[in-house]
Amino acid sequence: MANKVLVTAALTYANGPAHLGHVLEAIQTDVYVRARRMMGDEVIFMWADDTHGTPIQIRALREGIDPEQLIARVYDEHVKAYDGFQIGYDIFYTTHSEENRKHAAAIFEALRERGDIEERDVEQLYSEVDQMFLPDRMVQGTCPVCKTPDQDGDSCESCGSTYRPTELIEPRSVISGDTPVLRSSEHLFVPLARHEAFLREWLKPVSDGGTTILQDSVRNFVLSWVDGGLRDWDISREAPYFGIEIPGYPGKYFYVWFDAPIGYIAATEKWCELHGQDLQDWWKAPPGRGDGQTEIVHVIGKDIVYFHCLFWPAMLHAAGYTVPSRVQVHGWLKVNGEKMSKRRGTFILANTYLEHADPAYLRYYLAARLSSNQDDFDLAMDDFVARVNADLVGKAANLASRSIKFINSKLGGTLGPIPEDGVPVIDAVREKLLEVPDLYRNFDSAKALRLAMEMAETCDAYINEHAPWKVIKTDPERARAILTVGVQVSKMVGAVLQPVIPEWGEKIGRMLKLEQPLTFANAAEPLAEGLELGAYETLAERLQSATLDALIEASKADVAADRAVGAAPEDAPSFAYEVEPLAPEVGIEALGQIDLRVGKIVECEPVPKAKKLLRLTVDLGPLGQRNVFSGISQSYAPEQLLGKHVVMFANLKPRTMRFGVSEGMIMAAGQSDDKVTVIELDPRSLPGDKIS
Ligand code: 2FM
Ligand code: ZN
Repeated sequence: MANKVLVTAALTYANGPAHLGHVLEAIQTDVYVRARRMMGDEVIFMWADDTHGTPIQIRALREGIDPEQLIARVYDEHVKAYDGFQIGYDIFYTTHSEENRKHAAAIFEALRERGDIEERDVEQLYSEVDQMFLPDRMVQGTCPVCKTPDQDGDSCESCGSTYRPTELIEPRSVISGDTPVLRSSEHLFVPLARHEAFLREWLKPVSDGGTTILQDSVRNFVLSWVDGGLRDWDISREAPYFGIEIPGYPGKYFYVWFDAPIGYIAATEKWCELHGQDLQDWWKAPPGRGDGQTEIVHVIGKDIVYFHCLFWPAMLHAAGYTVPSRVQVHGWLKVNGEKMSKRRGTFILANTYLEHADPAYLRYYLAARLSSNQDDFDLAMDDFVARVNADLVGKAANLASRSIKFINSKLGGTLGPIPEDGVPVIDAVREKLLEVPDLYRNFDSAKALRLAMEMAETCDAYINEHAPWKVIKTDPERARAILTVGVQVSKMVGAVLQPVIPEWGEKIGRMLKLEQPLTFANAAEPLAEGLELGAYETLAERLQSATLDALIEASKADVAADRAVGAAPEDAPSFAYEVEPLAPEVGIEALGQIDLRVGKIVECEPVPKAKKLLRLTVDLGPLGQRNVFSGISQSYAPEQLLGKHVVMFANLKPRTMRFGVSEGMIMAAGQSDDKVTVIELDPRSLPGDKIS
């Protein structure tokens, strides 16, 4: 019996269009789903829009439309984007649905029956003009920490602090500008601590008899939250709130994070209804990994771990639903090394990308670099172009093209036997192919694709060595046999690429006249001697940098259009940061103790096992050279520093570090490790010269 696997990506919030950050997660999930299907598992990908809560109310208010109109429009944009990126979900539903209301009510009722709902008064800001309690995002005021004006009710854009709306200085309603007053109202809480024993069990590694797969760092993080004491969770919000009214509590609504994950179940229910399936098989089945059991796999970003690894399993468990068997967490998408920025044009919308470039490029590049960690993903445009062209086009597509095209154009289009000297090539490639399913199962598409490229390289070397284009002149059958190896390997490479670029597998299928869709198991089956190949179909063309330049320009224009319809403000302005307070005053004599010199960086290399350090050799001219360890590797690649003239603290006492002795420091600015800038001098300055 096939394994039953229900997979989800986080439900996209319906207050705006999908951007490449959403696409990263969608692709990671889709590749996993397609790969598991190729392993023979019964997989469903349940997905939806997350449609409730204050940010949607506010956006609708700004646009002068109803929230329903907003979510309907955004739904269409999301579906268009995800379809464009070939995300093969089985359903894309909505949390604003009858099914979601039903399951939210059922889960709430189950919690209430167990005594898991507590009623408590909470003081909140209330606007008498608007006649409503103001949720976090409906109130603005001055940040209580850094005193920046015009900050939201829950967090400050300028200093990053989070606080309660009641702590804001001079709060005002974003709707009317009215000054709210404090008023008490009854809220509903789930005392999460009552589920601590269950959560500890759920968090156990599989190797300790647990059933849930979590990345180690995620598990440790979540355990540290549990150890720190689980806080009660406020699941209710006051009307007017765009959401689901709580049964038995008129005027109170479920907080959006209560009903959002229930959308996974609602989507499944809708899908079951459309496909004659039983919801019980998916959400009321014993969790596990085997015949008759159901795996629930959530793919999420690192910002929503709390919800998916504490609240959600506790809710499911308490209400008798199937609990997740895996939560797979990824990092943020950065572009060119920085947070996506509207100003730089790197805040790229999914639909804008699709207007400029083939989705296959991004699918490939993301999958080729995504593995099972939560590191942030840098979409570096230069590397993107280089990798697509060198690997996808230069290796995988090239192998298929040189073998299939050649046989079609010069050898009548039929395959030969695998020659004796080709057998070890096929064997070596097959060995690698055997590793691939487990890699995909563990979300390590990077390694799977690395193997695919090695497979293509191995075969390419074989073809180069035996030069069929020369051999054909004297022995066409030998040339045919050599290239048949290329075709057979292209089939295996195609199987590895198929979850990432679905049409690659389809094209290989047509060219090789395969009767069944490619799977990991059938990819190594030998192609019949004498098989007549189909017409060659181009698998991938080179990606041009100009394509991405145009994309960045178009993204800048998107931002302007978005702002025109009242979108949230642009990236934080450049002054929106904090600096360390000034140190106490010193007399000029204190400066005299420090000897600053011009240094020239003549060597620079990473320090193995040191995450932040670079080792530099700094030339001080007549004063000799110094060895310096500097904590700047998250801001600079070694080659970026070579040859720079910098400011050196030259009379610091040498310091013995774990990696060697550091004989001075170079001057740099910046507060966080990944945003350091080295102070550069005019290159005409002379190494060793005193700076005063
Ligand atoms: O973080 C977000 O964008 C949420 N919309 C994710 C919800 S995931 C699930 F719980 F619905
Ligand atoms: Zn602040």
